[in-house]
Amino acid sequence: SMIKDLYGLSEYETKLQEILNVKRVIVAPGQSAMSDLDKKELGRTAASLLLSVLSEDDIVAVTGGSTVAMMAEMMNSGSSLYPSVLFVPARGGLGENVELQASHIAARCASKLGAQYRMFHVSDFLGAAAYEMLQKDPYIREMLTLIRSAKIVVHGIGQAMEMAIRRKAPDEILTILKNGNAVGEAFGYYFDQDGNIVYRMETMGLQLEQIKSARVVVGLAGGAGKAKAIDAIAKSGLMDVLIMDESAAKGILALY
Ligand code: G3H
Repeated sequence: SMIKDLYGLSEYETKLQEILNVKRVIVAPGQSAMSDLDKKELGRTAASLLLSVLSEDDIVAVTGGSTVAMMAEMMNSGSSLYPSVLFVPARGGLGENVELQASHIAARCASKLGAQYRMFHVSDFLGAAAYEMLQKDPYIREMLTLIRSAKIVVHGIGQAMEMAIRRKAPDEILTILKNGNAVGEAFGYYFDQDGNIVYRMETMGLQLEQIKSARVVVGLAGGAGKAKAIDAIAKSGLMDVLIMDESAAKGILALY
């Protein structure tokens, strides 16, 4: 658009598409980590992208985090309703506060769009035996089938250590992440700077296979501090669309 050209944002988008090898990069203006208005703009950008790729009967899996939560808040479909679309959380639970939890965000998206939602809360602190037993439960199995047939995935991106600490990961996991040089996190998977998986959180939900087979995978993140994390997730080759703010865009370009 003209506004984007004025700020040189389309130039960033083209460069980043080449560098990161992601089909479509969208850069929203400003510094979302510093300004609430800019974070809203990032959320609005993601919301309108999601509406543009949404089809009837789609299952949309969303992750938690404040950025995806902002997308839900900024969702506005006018008078269009999506009664056949279903929002589900990508993973059962990752130890986040309730407003940042994927189930809560799925419900918010659905209420904004007149769509359906299902919640899925699985404690992050289950022992192996309880975990195995739950996998056999008919309700859990039904939810996993729904989640794993998601056509669209919208996920946040975090800095590895920051996310692990926010989710109260125990020391032995922090050690695994440090030793494996984890820099980025998305949907419970931690990646090193080359996009290799270092560690995967044990919670039920979407797995890499289903992310690969979704029609559209949208990654969403802002802030210069996330530059390396975004770069790492991009190298994993999972994203079709990557939406970031201007400060993240500058931060990534500075890495190359
Ligand atoms: O997976 C990463 C986190 O969901 C990112 O959370 O958007 O609050 O930084 P955030």
